[in-house]
Amino acid sequence: MFTFGFKVSEPSNEDSEEVVEEKSSQDSQTWFECSELALPDDLRSGTSIDPDHLHVFLASVDIQVEYINCLTLDKEELSRDVLVAEHDHSDLVPGQYEGGLKVWECTFDLGELMAEREQVTKLFKGATVLDLGCGSGILGILAAKLGATKVVFQDYNKDVIEKVTMKNYSINCCGEESEEGTSSSSTVKPEAQFYCGDWGSFVEKDETHYDVILTAETIYSTNSYDKLIKLFKSKLKPDGVILLAAKTYYFGVGGGLRLFEKALQEDGHFSHQTAWECESGVKREILEIKTKPQSGE
Ligand SMILES: C[S@@+](CC[C@H](N)C(=O)[O-])C[C@H]1O[C@@H](n2cnc3c(N)ncnc32)[C@H](O)[C@@H]1O
Repeated sequence: MFTFGFKVSEPSNEDSEEVVEEKSSQDSQTWFECSELALPDDLRSGTSIDPDHLHVFLASVDIQVEYINCLTLDKEELSRDVLVAEHDHSDLVPGQYEGGLKVWECTFDLGELMAEREQVTKLFKGATVLDLGCGSGILGILAAKLGATKVVFQDYNKDVIEKVTMKNYSINCCGEESEEGTSSSSTVKPEAQFYCGDWGSFVEKDETHYDVILTAETIYSTNSYDKLIKLFKSKLKPDGVILLAAKTYYFGVGGGLRLFEKALQEDGHFSHQTAWECESGVKREILEIKTKPQSGE
């Protein structure tokens, strides 16, 4: 049975980012404030990685994303918030480490849908895309390969962005530029931005509005639903689409798709439908979420 390795502890902000107090009655957790991180110069022109440390995600027969195996990361270089989780073999330490170092299976579900279903694939041509809770950044990179012109990558942990997401972006999108930019072998270079920190403060820091918001395995905790829905409302263009991939239920943590749908319904701003589901093994689904037409439209 799938279950999160979940450790509940008080966060420490030693050698880490600024922290903000959340006032929500549902969420008494302390969270790192969001900040933008610049892509270092040495990653702008591409990076070469030992092939033994690389994985390949074949999203479709002709589109692939290469990504680094996080197990090969030099532990000496990780900051305290991530090291705590690493030391405890924990997938999550609320408010300190939110699981971004590893690639979760719903990322692969959504990646395949993006690359294989024509109606979804065409959403990315010329689009502005947010990869929310990006971890490896596979979905944002795929969006770039499918023709997105701007991709914003957001993850809670600075280490994840700097040691994983940016490197993966560089491997896939910063080599020699192609003329066409949509096939597997091509490298495409959209405008890219990177943010680390909490969703609550990301809403204020990031000024972009998105055609597509991609998010995978981010609804495991019901405490974050208010924050996520507020972010969706403030960042999605009126005719934009959110593609949310998740497990139907997260054992050990308590969140899941039915509870998230209930939160969406109570809020009332969005309509949603199931775009894909897998009944075998751990139940997983992809939701397509859109703004409801306003009265008079
Ligand atoms: C389980 S990981 C999934 C990572 C990636 N999407 C995947 O599928 O491989 C959950 C992600 O949600 C993000 N996250 C969770 N809570 C967050 C919060 N309050 N603020 C910002 N990001 C958060 C973290 O960035 C983390 O990488």
